Amino acid sequence: MNTFTYSYPVKAYFGEKAAEKNLAAELSKYGENVLLAYGGGSVKKNGIYDELVGILKNAGKKITEFTGIMSNPTYEKVQEGAKLAKENQIDFILAVGGGSVIDCCKVVSAQAKLDEDIWDFEYVQHGVPSEFIPMGAVVTAFGTGAEMNNGAVITNEEKKSKSPLWGAFYDFAVLDPDYTMTMPMKQVISGAFDSLSHSMETYMGSPREVNLSDEINEATQRNIIRNIRATLRNPDDRQARSELVWAAAMAENGILKIGKVTDFQCHMLEHQLGAYTDCNHGQGLAVLHPALYRHMLPEAAPQFARLAVEVWGIDASGKSEGELADAFIDALASFIKEIGLPTTFAEMGIGTDTDFKAIAESTILAGGCVKKFTPEELCEVLEECM
Ligand code: NZQ
Ligand code: ZN
Repeated sequence: MNTFTYSYPVKAYFGEKAAEKNLAAELSKYGENVLLAYGGGSVKKNGIYDELVGILKNAGKKITEFTGIMSNPTYEKVQEGAKLAKENQIDFILAVGGGSVIDCCKVVSAQAKLDEDIWDFEYVQHGVPSEFIPMGAVVTAFGTGAEMNNGAVITNEEKKSKSPLWGAFYDFAVLDPDYTMTMPMKQVISGAFDSLSHSMETYMGSPREVNLSDEINEATQRNIIRNIRATLRNPDDRQARSELVWAAAMAENGILKIGKVTDFQCHMLEHQLGAYTDCNHGQGLAVLHPALYRHMLPEAAPQFARLAVEVWGIDASGKSEGELADAFIDALASFIKEIGLPTTFAEMGIGTDTDFKAIAESTILAGGCVKKFTPEELCEVLEECM
């Protein structure tokens, strides 16, 4: 195991009526001006907006709304939120949504306290923001686990870059699985696959010897796979939904990462694909993973072989490490197909005219990946996904 320090700043309120039970007490800790942030309006249709506004009003808060946060949030939207926060002397941000709203607000919270442009501050001056407007998250779409970390993924359209920006940690996160029951099934599955991807990307990091974090990770992966299947059998299965919501948080709350340097090469590539195509994150990962993993052989064979046995239940007897590693990638690819995720870019509506070379050349090369990819090889991976 690598040396580590572990502490976690995000308080998670999980379960039925978590907002009704806990939000008022949390809100009492902050000033009266609240920025209520949400996406394109699903919260108004499913009643979550009315419920939260009721709690905010009862708590005597003055609400400023920050709305229309899109999937794959843009840097321009971040600046709009920061401006609103400054103009209205916001004391607290309540982010209500999935990874997009939650990420956008992390950077709003930092930009509102910073005079410089935060993109330049982080990428040119290599600064790390240290002052934030405090925030709480109410998760309505699970999968990214974005409520548990302080990294935001923001699309800078001008720079053609979908990149991480460091923002604030949430003080607390409300995780009520019932709030996610109105998610479209396509998003449920792509979100859950994103959680599986986060677990795999963490597992595939270094050191390569299996440690306790990896064994917990294997259990998390098995759990996600089982509960995706249960959800597809019965979309109203609340037990399966609860498990998936917490598995998403587990994959990003630092526990699986203890003693590890993570990989996340597939994510880096998918993010740049997103910068060029605005594709759905979980779907992009589903297409990329098997193709990228085939390129990670033979370097990744020992870890893939272990995943074959421990996660996918493949019988090891009579099989070499290489055969098991192949069997893992085959099992992953057929699972992606089984659960109705796309297996090619064409199925996602990504055309052959997409500039794969530019995507590959602008992709961050992950330090923790077992294989040191070159932009040329990443371009091959992208072309194989058509
Ligand atoms: O905008 P509204 O109308 O709310 O609709 C949303 C959106 O269209 C809808 N939705 C959310 N809750 C709903 C609901 N529809 C019905 N009922 C509900 N209860 O779901 C759609 C997708 O939401 P979005 O937040 O975009 O999805 P997701 O949670 O997958 O977030 C994706 C973003 O997170 C980033 C991705 O790159 C992408 O930008 N990620 C953030 C990570 C992090 N910070 O740790 C990790 C991930 O790897 C990922 O990169
Ligand atoms: Zn992800």
